[in-house]
Amino acid sequence: MDVLQETNLGFLGSKRTGKVRDIYERNGKLVLITTDRHSSFDRIIAHIPWKGQVLNQVSAWWFERTRDIVPNHVLAIPDPNVTIARKCTTLPIEAVVRGYLTGVTDTAAWTRYAAGERIFGGAVLADGMRKNQKLPHPLFDPTTKEAAHDRTLTPEQMIAEGFVSREMFDRIKVAALALFARGQDVAARNGLILVDTKYEFGIDADGTLVLIDEIHTPDSSRYWQLDSYAERFAEGQEPQYFDKEFLRLWFRDHCDPYRDATLPPAPPDLVQELSRRYIAMYEQITGMKFRYGESPILPRIERNLKSLAF
Ligand SMILES: Nc1ncnc2c1ncn2[C@@H]1O[C@H](COP(=O)(O)OP(=O)(O)OP(=O)(O)O)[C@@H](O)[C@H]1O
Ligand SMILES: [Mg+2]
Repeated sequence: MDVLQETNLGFLGSKRTGKVRDIYERNGKLVLITTDRHSSFDRIIAHIPWKGQVLNQVSAWWFERTRDIVPNHVLAIPDPNVTIARKCTTLPIEAVVRGYLTGVTDTAAWTRYAAGERIFGGAVLADGMRKNQKLPHPLFDPTTKEAAHDRTLTPEQMIAEGFVSREMFDRIKVAALALFARGQDVAARNGLILVDTKYEFGIDADGTLVLIDEIHTPDSSRYWQLDSYAERFAEGQEPQYFDKEFLRLWFRDHCDPYRDATLPPAPPDLVQELSRRYIAMYEQITGMKFRYGESPILPRIERNLKSLAF
């Protein structure tokens, strides 16, 4: 199976490696190549066929459907796995928006609510809410983007600690909430609830606020199936969701993914299943059939980038 693990496209200049993307810079533009790397436990645990294409194309689809709200970084999509983007100065905030009270990790809204917290991004929630309940209105609940661990600071703390100015904070909040409202509307037409998401913003050379990185992908967002939500919630069942946890659980049960120097290879049937689910998500989000990019992937990317003048 052809998977895109990494690229080394010397003709593009030096490379920066993110967890999922390889990033090259040329003439003030970024070449963002979304690979098939799959990370968990702060490391790469597997390569998932077609995942890079799914993420790049789902983002491209949403950027197109939101650009009337906020300008975004896309200049061109010269290949299924590649976006040419306007290089921006990134803002050190993860613009999290939540539509529902859910999640199980330490920083999740439900975990914090169950532990007694009632103030989220400046809004006060009532007592007596249940897990997976719709919030009275979507909440802007940002975290800071830091090397060590993202912290949940109040807006006042973020501004006081100099992460962003108050004016910038307000601009990000308005943009993030407007993007989320559009996301929920559009997702509903394809039978999905956009539950929560995370945006990244940057500032371009003109000082314009620009939406960067990725938008409403299965990695940056949570989606639930719309048709079964109400009934399942009423009966106290979990919503139907895009589940990629099973691969993570396999590693947790078969090794010590935080300590072991090398990990066992992921079981091929689990990798295939996850690949199938990413493709299914692409198809439901966009309402289009997934068209497998031409293989082998790496020479194709090289060809598509070499023929491009930028
Ligand atoms: N238009 C842009 N201008 C500047 N930086 C960008 C732009 N779009 C995306 N980025 C940055 O490129 C990187 C994308 O790579 P990747 O998603 O693999 O990163 P990551 O390892 O997830 O890092 P992070 O945790 O910061 O998201 C991110 O650091 C993102 O902030
Ligand atoms: Mg990222």
